Amino acid sequence: MSIEQCKIIQMPIIKEPRGNLTFIEGRKHIPFSIERVYYLYDVPGGANRGGHAHKELEQLIIAMSGSFDVLLDDGHNKVKFHLNRSYSGLYVCSMIWREMDNFSSGSVCMVLASNLYDESDYYRDYDSFLHAVRGAH
Ligand code: TYD
Repeated sequence: MSIEQCKIIQMPIIKEPRGNLTFIEGRKHIPFSIERVYYLYDVPGGANRGGHAHKELEQLIIAMSGSFDVLLDDGHNKVKFHLNRSYSGLYVCSMIWREMDNFSSGSVCMVLASNLYDESDYYRDYDSFLHAVRGAH
């Protein structure tokens, strides 16, 4: 998988005087069915999250509140994104190493995922990930 497949996806916004509403439908606004939702919160200043890749899992990462940075790496190229909007998300395809940092105080990171949690889907060692992607090319 290549980093070019990873991109910011804008979600619909229903703007009304009584407030905004955004919705996300699996396989319509994002390229996968949503099987799992998880979120990071109360992240202390200076903390790093991520530091792994997934063999199969696809994800959409959204800054529901506040902001943070996401560094994506396909083993050949790296791209950094700054997420700070609740109406757009970063689509991350499989086989992408990701690191997240620079969490603002009170930020909430919500992740929509294409599969249930499965530790065997992770590469947690960067060299093993590199070996897998470079071997595949
Ligand atoms: P991890 O994916 O390493 O978090 P991050 O990428 O945000 O740094 O997960 C941290 C811990 O939480 C790890 O022990 C696995 C567990 N976990 C679950 O049990 N279920 C889940 O859906 C997720 C995402 C993590």
